[in-house]
Amino acid sequence: MDATIFMENQLPVLDEAILKSVDQFGHAQPGQLKESMVYSLNTGGKRIRPMLLLATLKALNVDIQIGLNTAVALEYIHTYSLIHDDLPAMDNDDYRRGKLTNHKAFDEATAILAGDSLLTDSFALIANDSKIQNMQTKVNLIAELSKAAGSNGMIAGQILDVDSEGKQINLRTLQDIHKHKTGELIRYAVFAGGQIAQASSEVATLLDDFAWAYGIAYQIQNDLQEVMWTDEARGKLNHSDAELDKNTYPSIMGTNGALSALSDKIDSCKSLLDQIQTIQPAFDVELLAGFLKYLKI
Ligand code: IPE
Ligand code: IPE
Ligand code: MG
Ligand code: MG
Repeated sequence: MDATIFMENQLPVLDEAILKSVDQFGHAQPGQLKESMVYSLNTGGKRIRPMLLLATLKALNVDIQIGLNTAVALEYIHTYSLIHDDLPAMDNDDYRRGKLTNHKAFDEATAILAGDSLLTDSFALIANDSKIQNMQTKVNLIAELSKAAGSNGMIAGQILDVDSEGKQINLRTLQDIHKHKTGELIRYAVFAGGQIAQASSEVATLLDDFAWAYGIAYQIQNDLQEVMWTDEARGKLNHSDAELDKNTYPSIMGTNGALSALSDKIDSCKSLLDQIQTIQPAFDVELLAGFLKYLKI
């Protein structure tokens, strides 16, 4: 199946599921908490992570409805990570996706608490999900999400990222930052699809390798956007990587070096998907390969 058609069909379904899910939370709280959660959940994110989860399920020929709540939970964690990433104590960004960042549209305390709520509520979304009936699968999905987002996962990348500002680091350390801050949630998307579909361990390992490569490529592209794209296309007005003296692919290996690293990762992704199809001919390689276009700069 074509990835663009898949995205077009599934985006409204996912958007509705995200909006509906928020109704379960925050009723008793002052209105601005829910408003602030909804603001960041609905300011035009590309939804790559939940879509990758659903597409992995579809590629493995499983009903994607079963993964919908897990996909929503993952987008909650991604959204929280961006709200906190933009705070003055972190990257200090005033704009994201062409709109004011959460702490600018509301205030810092509300932004911190909206992030806290999205993080915490995400686990309830999976725990209470009646679509996933196998209890071991549910426990695995919750445990892996906690691991992917937590102190050995995405947060490990964020602290290393902040800690490396203004310092000279080598490519290995940069890859470690990217693997954690961005790779972990992308790997989780594909892992969760494989877990719900009960993929064989051979397929799950190849899916993992694909997702880790996709995650690094996704962050290389994000780094390159700051140096190659207009402010309008980026939806940001400042250049926080440069202003904060962040280590990025272009800062360490130059724009051309970063472009070539990106292209190598895209090739690895392609080859891993082909390997999956070799062991499982019914695997819809076209669908996941279609997601590689979101890595192009
Ligand atoms: C931005 O992620 C931050 C990274 C980890 C690269 P996305 O580019 O997926 O953010 P949205 O949700 O589409 O804005
Ligand atoms: C964001 O990384 C990673 C997380 C929020 C986990 P960046 O700080 O590099 O991404 P942008 O440029 O703000 O989207
Ligand atoms: Mg950051
Ligand atoms: Mg940032």
